[in-house]
Amino acid sequence: METCTDNWAEIEAASKAVLPAEIVEYIAQCRKSPERESYLISVLHRVQGHFGYLGRTQLDAVAQLLQIPSAKVTGVATFYHFFRLEKPGRFTVNVCLGTACYVKGADKIAEKFKEELGVDFGETSKDGLFTLEVSRCLGTCGLAPVVLIDGVAHAKVKPDHVPSLLEKYRSKAEQAPVNGK
Ligand code: FES
Repeated sequence: METCTDNWAEIEAASKAVLPAEIVEYIAQCRKSPERESYLISVLHRVQGHFGYLGRTQLDAVAQLLQIPSAKVTGVATFYHFFRLEKPGRFTVNVCLGTACYVKGADKIAEKFKEELGVDFGETSKDGLFTLEVSRCLGTCGLAPVVLIDGVAHAKVKPDHVPSLLEKYRSKAEQAPVNGK
């Protein structure tokens, strides 16, 4: 990608305005490398770490500032499952389906969350509150089956606990709304 467009300074400024200063600085360092494409995943991780997902605007800004074609940046972001392309819900519900949890019925818990939220793994409930995800081990097998909600581990969960767990977080959202959620 060439930088010699007439309005490059304008594009660069607009792209910089999209990302936090520390990521802009990191990209500037990466861009000095003759192999700047090899830093793309690392840059995308930082952007996702900041925003919680990789939106079109952020991907375009990375492409411009790293001087990598937009199609390449989008291709990498969509190829790896750990990159999220849509804004997540306020709470992430992470159901562990690792062996220790699975043998204790985690699959039934997962089904109950899907049913209650009306979503599949990787999707966000219509009210924008919950994003359902799956893990292969949360590192707390002694508490199996485990569900992590908003970073808090819930131990020995049973399917009939699911409605009250969700209710607890809905109440939390009502008491402290964030951006209308
Ligand atoms: S398998 Fe679920 S926490 Fe390890």
